[in-house]
Order: sequence, then C-alpha cells, then structure tokens
Amino acid sequence: MLKKLLLLKDQVEIDLNSANTINEVNEKKALYLGKKSPLQEIMATMKDLSIEERKEVGKAANEFRSFVEEKVQKRLNEINELQIQKKLESQAIDVTLPGRKFRTGSLHPLTKLTREIEDIFIGMGYTVEEGPEIEKDLYNFEMLNLPKGHPAREMQDSFYIDNNNLLRTHTSPVQVRTLLKRKGEPVKIICPGKVYRRDNDDATHSHQFMQIEGLVVDKNITMADLKGTLSLLCQKMFGEETNIRFRPSFFPFTEPSVEVDVSCFKCGSKGCSLCKGSGWIEVLGAGMVHPNVLRMAGYDPKVYQGFAFGLGIERFSMLMNSIDDIRHFYTNDPRFLRQF
Ligand code: DAH
Repeated sequence: MLKKLLLLKDQVEIDLNSANTINEVNEKKALYLGKKSPLQEIMATMKDLSIEERKEVGKAANEFRSFVEEKVQKRLNEINELQIQKKLESQAIDVTLPGRKFRTGSLHPLTKLTREIEDIFIGMGYTVEEGPEIEKDLYNFEMLNLPKGHPAREMQDSFYIDNNNLLRTHTSPVQVRTLLKRKGEPVKIICPGKVYRRDNDDATHSHQFMQIEGLVVDKNITMADLKGTLSLLCQKMFGEETNIRFRPSFFPFTEPSVEVDVSCFKCGSKGCSLCKGSGWIEVLGAGMVHPNVLRMAGYDPKVYQGFAFGLGIERFSMLMNSIDDIRHFYTNDPRFLRQF
C-alpha cells in the first residue's frame, strides 16, 4: 500500500504539469485527494490494521496529501504567472513606432509680417505704440488737420458709432495720442494695428485691413531722414538692390507729402506686369509732419520737425508673396495659411 502511494507521487507531478488551466488543476487534485481517490481507499482500510501499521500508513497518507497540495499550489502559481505574461505580451506597446502626428497652428501671415517690420524699427531705436480701434473723431481727423467738412475726409468713408466716435480709418490717430502723451518730448514710434473703412470688398479692397504708422519728431529732422529710414525698410523687405523714389502727393497731416515707390523687385525695373511697365511700384504714403498737427498737440513747429509714414501690411504681403486677392487674409482657408 505504501509503495502504491510512492509510485503515485511521480504520476502526480506528470499529471499536474499537463494541466494548463485552474479548472484542470482542480480536477487533478480531486483525482488524488477526492472521495474516490486511492488515498481515500487506503484510509478506508485503516480500521483493519494494527496500531503500528495504522501509525505508519497514517503518516504516509498525510505526507502524500501535503505533497499533492504543495504541487497543486506550485502549478497554480505557474499558470497564474503564464496568464500575466500572456496579457502583458498582448497589451505590449511598441515605443519605437513613430508617434501620431497632430497639427500645430501657426502665426497668421499678417502677424508674422507685422513682427518682422517691428523688429526692423526696434533695431533703429523705435518703440511700438498701440491705440484703440474705436477712436475719437477728434484724433482720427480733427487733430490731424482734417476739420469737419474737409473734403479729404471723403477719401476715408467711415464707420461712425456716434457723432464723436468711429472705427479708426487709419493708424494716424496714434500720432496724436503719442504727441499728447509725450508733452513736447521727442518721439520715435511705430504703431501697427487694424483699421476700418466703408469700402466694398473686392480683390484689392477690404473693409478691415492693417497698417503700420511711423512717427519721428525731434529737432533738425529732415526729409533725408525720412528717405534713409524708408530706404532701409524697403531694402529689408524687397531686397538689398531696392531703390525708392518720392512722388509729390497730398495728405492733410503732412507737408510736403509724398507717395513712396520701390523699384520693381520682380523685373529689376525693366518693366513687367507687376509694375505695369513703369519699373516702379507704389508702396506707402509719407511726409513731413504738418505744422498744424504739431501745434495742436502742443509742439512748437519752429523748434520741432518730424516725419511720418503709413503703410498697408496686406499690400506689403501681397507684393512680397504674389498674392492676388486681399480677401485671402480674412477667409482663413488653411490651404492659403499653410504657405506661410
Ligand atoms: N493715414 C494715411 C492713410 O491711411 C497713410 C499715411 C500717409 C500715414 C502719410 C502717414 C503719412 O503717417 O505721413 O491713407
């Protein structure tokens, strides 16, 4: 009988190792320790044995039971570990795979160009000023030498909010605001910003667009300073070879006033479709600050002179990038925006 148990031990190990699930292990356990197991058979015969034999058989039976239980537990642990291993493998992440792309936004082309132009002027010692988009008639027109009823007001058809306030039609009112703030001190500023006019939108007109205003007021400022400054700006924008020329013009807030042209960067001034055969392209308006503007803001025009200019940011960008329709800047089609 005892021999039988010893032989069974080998079989227990083989059987349990072939069990691959918890259920199978439990079935095997029942086979060796359950009601119909050889162990129970042996226990049933105990009552017919002598005390000596009973002791010996009892001890062997207990040992066998412990042995089986130990092997069962070992197999269960193994199965558990295998299952964890399998799960880990099936859920493994391959960190060497390329990541999923997600699209980042970018600055609007007008913001980008504004910052570029700001950098050029900051490099020349200018500071950047800002003014409100809802402006007083007083600053937008009156103190720029455009009294009520002045015919030049008609050139800038406006969105009025009430009799005294409107959406600014240009960035020039920031000239007035800055002069009033500096109270007779020298001024050297630019002001980028949005402006509004009651134009019908088409390829070259937009009811909303952007400008950069420039103003320098100090002693002994001449048109040569204006020309040098704008030459440098245009060379940085349109290329080192660029020349500029001044044509007489009229703005109520400057005297004399000029229209500034750049030599055509597309054809090298030979004449092409862009410059309409002239070799020159109009890019901005400028002039020497009108004595009335200085006087109204509290500056003595006998002591102080100044120059001013105003450029359209969309116009610059359209020229630099061959953009044929100003509305592209405001419809925000990603196919357009992605090109910048
Ligand atoms: N404010 C003018 C406009 O919007 C542009 C301009 C012209 C500004 C001459 C200036 C200047 O400062 O001197 O049409």
